[in-house]
Amino acid sequence: MDFLKVHGDRKLNGDISISGAKNSALPLISSTILAKNSVEISNVPNVVDIKTFLKLIKMLNGSYEFENNRAIINTSTINNTVANYDIVKTMRASILVLGPLLSRFGQCEVSLPGGCAIGQRPVDLHIKALLQMGAEIDIKGGYIKAIAPNGLTGTTIMFDKITVTGTENIITAATLAKGKTKIINAAKEPEVVQLCLELKNSGVEIEGIGTDELTIIGRDRELIEYKPIKVIPDRIEAGTYLCAGAITNSKITLKNVNSEHISSIISKLSQMNFKLDVLENEVTINPTNKILPTEIVTTEYPGFPTDMQAQFMALATQAEGTSIIEERLFENRFMHSSELNRLGADIHLKGNIATIYGKTELYGADVMATDLRASSALVLAGLIAKGKTNIHRIYHLDRGYENIEKKLNNIGAKIDRLRE
Ligand code: UD1
Repeated sequence: MDFLKVHGDRKLNGDISISGAKNSALPLISSTILAKNSVEISNVPNVVDIKTFLKLIKMLNGSYEFENNRAIINTSTINNTVANYDIVKTMRASILVLGPLLSRFGQCEVSLPGGCAIGQRPVDLHIKALLQMGAEIDIKGGYIKAIAPNGLTGTTIMFDKITVTGTENIITAATLAKGKTKIINAAKEPEVVQLCLELKNSGVEIEGIGTDELTIIGRDRELIEYKPIKVIPDRIEAGTYLCAGAITNSKITLKNVNSEHISSIISKLSQMNFKLDVLENEVTINPTNKILPTEIVTTEYPGFPTDMQAQFMALATQAEGTSIIEERLFENRFMHSSELNRLGADIHLKGNIATIYGKTELYGADVMATDLRASSALVLAGLIAKGKTNIHRIYHLDRGYENIEKKLNNIGAKIDRLRE
């Protein structure tokens, strides 16, 4: 197993180019199940979750090529509609095939994703919505067995909670359903918006894009002729590298970023006394003479993303004063706090609220990555810790960050990837 050795206490300086968004690429790849043609998707990040999803497409008997961040996916040969446990257990986002498989083939079986390090993460809202669209669903032996022999029928779906992949699943299901589907309380994350825009660009009738009320006119199982797609920049990767600039108090410029998608992150960094130069596709963070403490509440887009909470916790250890972070989306998403404390942070938890007392000196130690974003928080902390920080179980990191150590080493970090 690989681990990272981060040599701490170094300044960074330079440009980082942001990769395509994993969380946009995943639903887009899944949506190719709705297409009759081979679909070209560019700016796809070369990370483990993407390779896992492509492997899933292959298991369904579709095919793909993936080279130089460009995937060409052909789902016209799919004749297996079972997403089995072996694949779903490695990646919860496999649930994204549920909507398109069921609407195209009238049947599918998807292993039920279990809980994960950050909480229970049920998929009840996905299932409830599909039931409303006429699916018959049986949950047995750890599988969601869904059938809709005469196809799905559009209806009004009111999500009790905002769910990103749930909204994406119903958008793709609705595309091949009969009649009109209205989704109320839809997620409006940029990744959901991109999925809608690409489908619309290829002839699907969708209204309300970017709002919490979407209307989709179903095509009654007529497959789409999908146009080429370019994945939007990864807003969480961008936010993580802005935090790398902030925590090391260095000047870093992000290229190929969509600054609108990270405005909540930019605004938090500004409140913490960093000066940022913001252009449409480029953002520079400048050093500050004093990092101010912050108060963060994670919410749905356009609010502060839960996927940036761990990185800001690492940053808050360097603020002069007490910061508060309230996690509202996932019940168990503070696993990184005890690892940060191993490095010398002073973080106290009470329920879903973390109090971070700053500023604390951090010292290199052995720490363990517990989930994707927690891992990047440990890398950030390692960048400023005195001595060396060994980060174990970095397979979490590899799921979602493309070349993280290379990108950081290019601007002055010293991070080695070693074998246990
Ligand atoms: C997506 C992102 C993930 C991000 C999360 C929240 C992908 C592949 N992953 O995850 O990186 O952290 O959005 O922005 O895009 N819920 C239910 N029942 C459901 C579905 C969700 O109770 O059927 C709850 C969840 O437990 C959670 C909240 O709703 O508390 C939001 O979860 P959701 O938006 O569904 O997260 P994901 O789509 O899994």
